[in-house]
Amino acid sequence: MTSVSDSISEIEAPALKELDAASDADQLEAWRLSYLGRKGRLTHVLRRLAELPLDERRNLGAEANRVKLRLEAAYDQHRGRLEQARLAQVIEGARQDVTLPGPPLPHGRLHPISQTLSDVLRAFENMGFQVAEGPEIEWDYYNFEALRIPADHPARDMWDTLWIDYERDGRRPMLLRTHTSPNQIRIMEHTQPPIRVVVPGKCYRFEATDPTHEWMMTQVEGLAVDDGISMADLKGTLAEFARRIFGEDRKVAFRCDYFPFVEPGMELRIDCFICRGEGCRTCGRTGWIEILGAGMVHPEIIANAGYDPDRYTGFAFGLGIERIALLRHGVDDIRHFYANDLRFLQQF
Ligand code: PHE
Repeated sequence: MTSVSDSISEIEAPALKELDAASDADQLEAWRLSYLGRKGRLTHVLRRLAELPLDERRNLGAEANRVKLRLEAAYDQHRGRLEQARLAQVIEGARQDVTLPGPPLPHGRLHPISQTLSDVLRAFENMGFQVAEGPEIEWDYYNFEALRIPADHPARDMWDTLWIDYERDGRRPMLLRTHTSPNQIRIMEHTQPPIRVVVPGKCYRFEATDPTHEWMMTQVEGLAVDDGISMADLKGTLAEFARRIFGEDRKVAFRCDYFPFVEPGMELRIDCFICRGEGCRTCGRTGWIEILGAGMVHPEIIANAGYDPDRYTGFAFGLGIERIALLRHGVDDIRHFYANDLRFLQQF
């Protein structure tokens, strides 16, 4: 049997070497059991110390303890190293390339009518007009009366009206505004000239739909009142507007038209984008599409506003945004805009 002293000195070097070779948690545990465990080699030697005489026991005991501490420290260190390596591997496996593009997100966009509306407003803002708004539910007074269309005037037939609580409870008649022209009156009521304003808004008509008519549509009203405003200002403003929205080569034409609140009145037409003037379903075989009504503000309305009709004149116009969007994008039926079909809307 080898002496206790030999055993102690023979344990340390091979133990450290074996420990170094342990490359995972299982091997490490096996090593711990074989040296430091209850049945381990060092434990065995320590137990044998008890059989020795006292002075030998003291010396060898100190030596054995040194080896034990040394092995325990080496074990802790090696375990730390293995754990570090394991973590590094986990991290490496979970690494993500944050520079890779993510999955594409679906994104919303403005409705084509909103896009055209903001382009139209911007065109007028750049020409010095301010933007105002008015109510969609309107009094008969503003929608008709004050615009020189009294109750039994035949011109009421120009606007098939959706009435609200008409004549019920003796209230003044209300309606869904059929055009944005009531805002001419509303603005003149509380503003002094010079006035240059555009008023966007939804309008409603009780009528059958077809490729160029909807029962709800978006208008932009224009109003300018000042010293010495003439028909030339109106034509110049509208021609410039058409140029900014449609470009140079689209044809525009002014024609006489009648509206009770302007004198003289006219309409602005643009050559049909589908048939280029030949005549088709979209333009009602005329070759032209009307995009707005306009005229010089009736002197009676100027006077009703409290302005001096000998000094002040004005022009007004009302244009349809859906018609303009139709022309710009080459859409052949106005009803597409409000059918909520994403296949249509996503094209804008
Ligand atoms: N309000 C008229 C319509 O809706 C258009 C118009 C506005 C005509 C201003 C003349 C002046 O048909």
